[in-house]
Amino acid sequence: MNGRSYQIASIPGDGIGVDVVIEARKVLDRAAALHGFDLGWTEFDWSCERYARTGTMMPEDGVEQLSAFDGIFLGAVGFPGVPDHVSLWGLLIPIRRAFAQYVNLRPVRLLPGTSSVLKNRSAEELEMVIVRENSEGEYSTIGGRQTGPAGEFAVQESVFTRAGVERIIRYAFELARTRAGRVCSATKSNGIIHTMPFWDEIFTEVAAGYPDVHSEQCHIDALAARMVQQPDRLDVVVGSNLFGDILSDLAAAITGGLGMAPSGNINPAGEYPSMFEAVHGSAPDIAGQGIANPVAQILAGAMMLEHLGESAAARAVNAAVEGVLAAGEVATPDLGGKSTTADLGTAIAAALDASP
Ligand code: NAI
Ligand code: MG
Repeated sequence: MNGRSYQIASIPGDGIGVDVVIEARKVLDRAAALHGFDLGWTEFDWSCERYARTGTMMPEDGVEQLSAFDGIFLGAVGFPGVPDHVSLWGLLIPIRRAFAQYVNLRPVRLLPGTSSVLKNRSAEELEMVIVRENSEGEYSTIGGRQTGPAGEFAVQESVFTRAGVERIIRYAFELARTRAGRVCSATKSNGIIHTMPFWDEIFTEVAAGYPDVHSEQCHIDALAARMVQQPDRLDVVVGSNLFGDILSDLAAAITGGLGMAPSGNINPAGEYPSMFEAVHGSAPDIAGQGIANPVAQILAGAMMLEHLGESAAARAVNAAVEGVLAAGEVATPDLGGKSTTADLGTAIAAALDASP
C-alpha cells in the first residue's frame, strides 16, 4: 500500500440502479485492493423514494455535500409515480451543471461473447464514442405553457452559447486524436435555423485547427440511419444535449444493448468531481428481480478509475468484464443467459484475481 485513497459519493438511486451499484462496488473494491489503493464510499439515499417521503430528490445543500468528493458514482433515478422531469431536474441535471460536467462521454463497442443486432458486424466495425454536450442546448427551463386566443400552446427555448459549443467540439477533436482520428458532428441546420447553423459554424472553425483529424457533419436523421447501415464509418460523434442523448441509446442498442453501455459526466478541468453512471435508467420493468445486467455500471466504474488516474486498475476491470463475457458461462437474461445480477458481478470480481 502506498496510501492512495479516493473518496467516492455513491448514489444508487432507484430500481435497478440499486442492484447494479452493489455489484459494481464489489468489482471496484477488488480492483482497488489488487492495485494498492483505497476507495472510501459514502452512500446517499437520494432517489424517487426519498422524494415520495420528503418532497425532494436530494437535500437543499446536496450539491455542496458532493463537492468534496473525488468522484460520484450514480445508479439511476426515476420511478413510476414520480414524473421523469422531477427526478431528472431534481438531481441529475443540477449536479451536471453545478460541477460543470459539460462532457457526457459515452463509449460503445461490441464486447466479446456478445453479438450485435446488426448482422455480420465485427468488434472492429463497432467502436465509437458519443460526445454529448451536457450543460445547455435543448435541455433548458426557458419557456412555458399558456392559453392564448388560438388555444393552448407550449414554448421551449434552447440555449447554445459560443463558449459551450466550442468547448464540447474541441473536446471531441482532442479525443479523436487519441482514437481513429475522425469526428462527425450531428446537426439539423436544415430544419432548426438559428441554433444549428450556429453550431455548424463553430464546428467548421474548430475543425480548421485540427487538419490531422477527418471532420464531417451529418443531419441527425441521416446520421441515425448511418449508425445502423454504416457504423464502421463512425469514430467520435459529437452532438448537442438532445441529439447526443438519442444517438447514445441507439449506439448502445447496436452494440451489446443498454445493459453494456457506460457513461461519464466529465468536468475536464478537474475543478469539481465528475460523475459516472450507466446509460440505462432504473428499468422498473425488471427492478427488484435480480436480473439486471451490471456490466454497464461496472464499465462506468472503470471509466471512473481511469479518470482518477488509476489506469492499470481500469484496464484490469475492462479485461475482467471481457474475459467473463467471452467465456459466456455467466450471463444475465438480456445476454441470453439465466444468471443473476449478483452472479455476474461476483464472476467479474473473481476474474480480477485471475488476470495478470
Ligand atoms: P431504461 O434504460 O430504464 O430501460 C429501457 C429498457 O432496457 C427496459 O426494458 C429495461 O428492462 C432494459 N434495461 C435497461 N438497463 C438494463 C440492464 N442493466 N439490464 C437489463 N436490461 C436493461 O429506460 P426507460 O424505461 O425509458 O426509463 C425508466 C426510468 O429510468 C424512467 O423513470 C427514466 O426517467 C429513468 N432514466 C434515468 C436515467 C438516469 O438516471 N440517468 C437515464 C434514463 C432513464
Ligand atoms: Mg438517455
